[in-house]
Amino acid sequence: MLHGRRHLQLVDSERDSMRKACSFNAQLMDFIRPYVIPGAVTEELDRLIHEYTLDHGHKPACLGYHGFPKSCCTSVNEVICHGIPGSYALQEGDIVNVDITSIVDGWHGDQSETFLIGKVSDDALRVTQCAFDSLHLAIDAIKAESRVSEIGHAIIAEAKKYDFGVVEEYVGHGLGRRFHQDPSIPHVPTGAANSVKLYPGICFTIEPMINLGTKITVLDNSDGWTVRTKDGKLSAQFEHTIVMTEDGPEILTDTKDGPQKGHKFTN
Ligand code: MF3
Ligand code: CO
Ligand code: CO
Repeated sequence: MLHGRRHLQLVDSERDSMRKACSFNAQLMDFIRPYVIPGAVTEELDRLIHEYTLDHGHKPACLGYHGFPKSCCTSVNEVICHGIPGSYALQEGDIVNVDITSIVDGWHGDQSETFLIGKVSDDALRVTQCAFDSLHLAIDAIKAESRVSEIGHAIIAEAKKYDFGVVEEYVGHGLGRRFHQDPSIPHVPTGAANSVKLYPGICFTIEPMINLGTKITVLDNSDGWTVRTKDGKLSAQFEHTIVMTEDGPEILTDTKDGPQKGHKFTN
């Protein structure tokens, strides 16, 4: 991993390219937000995302990525991540994570939000709140040259307060000209993450997946993508792309209309 350190540290002009890609991606998240309501069909949300991206001269990174068939991921209720948009219409009481990644001038911006569909259960509110807070606590826990494991420590501490599960098999990641690259960003502390540092100029995501029950995941063999909780209980996730700067982490995928740090999810 050490050999990779230099080329992962972006210089100022490259950081600006990432700022641009991520700010378009955030604008796209704000665009889709009003459509994520009861009755919305997930493949219709995908079509809107796809067309908005192309209309602005950019590319959806998910489409065709390792054969993924759509331009975003829509993960409903017990789906943890990589849900494929389809004929399902969102229902009152659902929670849905919409995960969008754009390629702008060759650079990737990647983010996701969990949306509450109408009035939801207390469990849904709590797991969504925990996922959101754990992302922001993790961001607040790091500075230049922090160990990657500080991220997992912050997330697991928050999940423990609720006795919720933190998914281990799917992780945050470095990104830039590539969608997924080093460093790997686990959401629980690991030995490997303890020996990797976040030097200025490194771009990466934090994207904790928090489960109401077990952390154990099941991959759907019929489509090869959809990841669900083993116990069928709810899962929530939020994701930001971040660049570590000399002065600390800078969130690149901040939205205008989405929840900001400190937000309280209510009905
Ligand atoms: N956007 C997801 C992430 O946060 C990856 C989706 S890959 C896809 O890393 F192929 F499923 F789209
Ligand atoms: Co990601
Ligand atoms: Co993503």
